[in-house]
Amino acid sequence: MMPAMQQSAVHLSDRHFRTIAELIEGQVGIKLPPGKRLMLEGRLHKRVRALNYTGVNEYVDNLFDGDLFDSELTHLIDVVTTNKTDFFREPQHFDFMRETAVPALLKAHGRKSPNLKIWSSASSTGMEAYTAAMVLDDMTRTGSRFQFRVLGTDISTAVLRLAKTAIYTRDVVAPVPENFVKRYFLSARDRSRGEVRVVPELRCVTHFMRMNLMDASYPVDRDVDIIFCRNVLIYFERETQRKVVQQLCSHLRPGGYLLVGHSESMVHSAVPGLKQVQPTIFQV
Ligand SMILES: C[S@@+](CC[C@H](N)C(=O)[O-])C[C@H]1O[C@@H](n2cnc3c(N)ncnc32)[C@H](O)[C@@H]1O
Repeated sequence: MMPAMQQSAVHLSDRHFRTIAELIEGQVGIKLPPGKRLMLEGRLHKRVRALNYTGVNEYVDNLFDGDLFDSELTHLIDVVTTNKTDFFREPQHFDFMRETAVPALLKAHGRKSPNLKIWSSASSTGMEAYTAAMVLDDMTRTGSRFQFRVLGTDISTAVLRLAKTAIYTRDVVAPVPENFVKRYFLSARDRSRGEVRVVPELRCVTHFMRMNLMDASYPVDRDVDIIFCRNVLIYFERETQRKVVQQLCSHLRPGGYLLVGHSESMVHSAVPGLKQVQPTIFQV
């Protein structure tokens, strides 16, 4: 059995767990049910050691100290967010973008060479944003005349750092079609590192910034063509989901599309007039 001192170093008391859960739900919108306690304790451990606290409860007691709070909240958010993502995740969305959404949007723009705006609103490490950029760039090489920009936003600074470098381990490109891997990724000179990097041509049209979907307003253009908001709404309460979807839709141009994750198709009731084109695809 673990000695009592050691136990309190590793385990959060009920009160301390509630403090963190309330803080995270209020700031990020993510619910932390009791089942997440073990995960939280495990992930906080490294941070507690780095700050030289005797244990996780002492860390929570000091969290609200004026100077510490802002920087620590950033770390805490990195600790509690689930950042799982993939290139070409839920690939039917990228097929829809190529075959239906972009042709319809180009028609609606009605100008010679429009500039399409794509927003990956919970971008994690950038794979969703870069996948969109690859598909759009490929379209411009095969006859479609347009330019595009992709914005990726996320609340976690750790994933945004990775997204900006665009350096990934080679194994994550497995779902990317072979010809796209050749065209859109560079291999590290030192092969033993097993790393690839997105090519500069895509990096220079893809930008990332920190943004909290819980914020009262978003510093993003209001004529976005396609918004991806995938695999993040599931972590929010229904009312938060509704507000987020409503706000996102207010950033779409008329005829613009909102794409959500496969388990998030409930959003259509959130915005009056939002058209459900497919189970996880909506149009304003
Ligand atoms: C599971 S990942 C999904 C990534 C990508 N959209 C996909 O489907 O592959 C969820 C992302 O949402 C981000 N996130 C969670 N709460 C957020 C919030 N309130 N505002 C912005 N991003 C948030 C997390 O940091 C995480 O990177």
